[in-house]
Amino acid sequence: MATAAQPQREAPPLMEKLVSLAKRRGFFFQSSEIYGGIQGIYDFGPLGVALRNNIKRAWWRSMVELRDDVVGLDAGILMNPKVWVASGHVQNFTDPLVECKKCHQRFRADQIVGNRHQDDGGEFTEARQFNLMFKTFMGPVENSSTEVYLRPETAQGIFVNFPNILTSTQRRPPFGIAQIGKAFRNEITPGNSIFRLREFEQMELEFFVPPADEMKWLDYWKEHRLNWYLGLGIQKDHLRLRAHGKDELAHYALGAFDVEYQFPFGWSELEGIAARGDYDLAAHQKASGRDVSYFDDLTRVRYIPHVVEPSAGVDRTMLTLMIDAYHEEEVRGEQRVVLRFHHSVAPIQVAVLPLSRKEPLQKLAREVEHQLRPHFRTDYDDTQAIGRRYRRQDEIGTPFAVTIDFETVNDHAATIRSRDEMTQDRVPLDQLQRALAERLSAQ
Ligand code: GAP
Repeated sequence: MATAAQPQREAPPLMEKLVSLAKRRGFFFQSSEIYGGIQGIYDFGPLGVALRNNIKRAWWRSMVELRDDVVGLDAGILMNPKVWVASGHVQNFTDPLVECKKCHQRFRADQIVGNRHQDDGGEFTEARQFNLMFKTFMGPVENSSTEVYLRPETAQGIFVNFPNILTSTQRRPPFGIAQIGKAFRNEITPGNSIFRLREFEQMELEFFVPPADEMKWLDYWKEHRLNWYLGLGIQKDHLRLRAHGKDELAHYALGAFDVEYQFPFGWSELEGIAARGDYDLAAHQKASGRDVSYFDDLTRVRYIPHVVEPSAGVDRTMLTLMIDAYHEEEVRGEQRVVLRFHHSVAPIQVAVLPLSRKEPLQKLAREVEHQLRPHFRTDYDDTQAIGRRYRRQDEIGTPFAVTIDFETVNDHAATIRSRDEMTQDRVPLDQLQRALAERLSAQ
């Protein structure tokens, strides 16, 4: 019997599909989901943690380990509140906020159209400045003298440690201090999945330079940072550098660029690169009374170094990598979703899959996986039919799968299946590691 044609459902937009994949496969989940969630906070599942670790490792490698002019730091999230007064955050780290008089929902004044709430016609209040720093209390007494802030950027931890690093490492400008860590902002409107969060992670470098060289280094770092994203395999035409106009410069910045990505919701900031002058060091010197200047014994000049700051977000990089890697395609009459992660960041690099759960395949496959494990990020999977397992590995972006089949018992060889080329190459077991290393480093 013929069935009536079903009306075609519109395909869900990319962000929706990606968020669904992220949840289904364990990249990220809304925080405290069983209680209805909490706005602007996400939790990262096994593949999400792996991806984030790979991003942070790649950043640290490029920004610290492969250079001789940058050192690392890990400062506390809670700091003396005087830091945030001196840095200008207590006074200036605000967004303009309006409230609908009817439903009391709050919005960023620069993101609304007109003076009435579109949903219920309620009039908006006058805009007032809303400080984005989260506050808590230190110690058992809760009053204004025990108030502390959760850091809204990792940068200030670097500035206040500048004299410590200077004396403990004998560095001379130009040199930088790098830090990766959590930051917190009470964003009025978090959203677009993990794009704008209230708890997020930053990867920041404060690069201290002689004042006259500041703009030269701004130029250097904007190119360097753009190239870092290209090196992670992000498509060139989805990235751009945008210079800030005078009116949008942050309260400390003398010049700034954003690395922008073409997100499904439009071109938006992935990373900010700012020339901060001596704003922060001078402010901390004044407020703390501690001398943070540098004496150049070659030129016999004492000065407060100027700072160029590339400041990236782990979460935004993660979202960008996932969006950029997401592809839907038809292969031999079948639809597949594939995340074409760059080999260096793929959460799993090699999946080992026995064709069947029957022995001796399972035992053999486990042995192979154990041999490969010290060299690559591996996964062992013997659930479901092989086709479904390939699809799962495609969906989580695993570049190579090694299939152990019944022939393996006789010919001591396995098949390497490539995620991107869809080729299947038979390789002797004792050459697997080398064959995989070659393929993984080829990108
Ligand atoms: N220290 C300079 C600074 O914090 P920013 O432009 O405010 O500069 C730098 O932040 C980067 O941190 C952004 O480009 C973005 O990647 C990330 N970031 C900032 N706010 C964020 C938020 N609410 N959620 C997720 N990432 C955020």
